[in-house]
Amino acid sequence: MSDTPLVSLRGITKSFGAVKSLQGVDLTLRPGEVLGLVGDNGAGKSTLMKVLAGALRHDSGTIAIDGREVRFTSPADARAERIGIVYQDLALCDTLDVAHNLFLGREPRRGPFIDRRRMHHQAAEMLSDLHVRVRSTHQEIGHLSGGQRQAVAIARAVSFQPRVLILDEPTAALAVAEVRQVLSMIRRVARQGVGVILITHRLQDLFEVCDRITVMYEGRSVEDEAVADLDIERLVGMITRTNAEGSAA
Ligand SMILES: Nc1ncnc2c1ncn2[C@@H]1O[C@H](COP(=O)(O)OP(=O)(O)OP(=O)(O)O)[C@@H](O)[C@H]1O
Ligand SMILES: [Mg+2]
Repeated sequence: MSDTPLVSLRGITKSFGAVKSLQGVDLTLRPGEVLGLVGDNGAGKSTLMKVLAGALRHDSGTIAIDGREVRFTSPADARAERIGIVYQDLALCDTLDVAHNLFLGREPRRGPFIDRRRMHHQAAEMLSDLHVRVRSTHQEIGHLSGGQRQAVAIARAVSFQPRVLILDEPTAALAVAEVRQVLSMIRRVARQGVGVILITHRLQDLFEVCDRITVMYEGRSVEDEAVADLDIERLVGMITRTNAEGSAA
């Protein structure tokens, strides 16, 4: 593994009018690493990830990819750097089937027509590569379980061959077995060298898949530690900024 980080965010700030959502955030991500990004509601996690995904423009601070400073003015710029994001609301089309959702906007074509056979065949392959089980790629997305929908959204993001994959609360609404499936997808993707940033309030998930955890508090990055050096109690203390006795640090 090279020493140059895949992603390096330094001193990122972002205000919405009088609301200072990000007040100087540092974050580092290495290839093949799963980084947990945690913090209380409103700490600025989603805002920071929207900046990294090109969906929001920050006010100051730098973004470097492979040590090279970049400026994103749109999500397309971030996509060109192979940064993929799955938002919490997933942005899938409920009335379309699984295959269409995977290929939305870049369906394989034969002449002017969508090549449905090839699309379903490729969709089935994509899902099986990631060990995602759906009954059929012809199923409507709206009829799938929350976990299956999440898995399809991740598979769609993975199909763009990202080097960085950002997942904002992928397991929040899932049943136990579905959580397992999403966590093992994350591991599989990271093993291929993708750097994954996982936002979650489910701290137990972090201990299963993450290598490192960055903690945000009120718009700042306040801690950064290897999971191996952490336990849940200490992590809770870091998130709430209290020590073991429960008083404010
Ligand atoms: N578009 C916006 N306009 C105004 N304020 C915003 C906007 N987006 C985010 N904020 C504010 O920025 C702060 C950080 O919000 P953000 O959504 O990044 O938090 P978060 O850490 O993702 O929280 P949660 O865990 O609840 O998802 C909040 O105070 C929020 O109200
Ligand atoms: Mg959020």
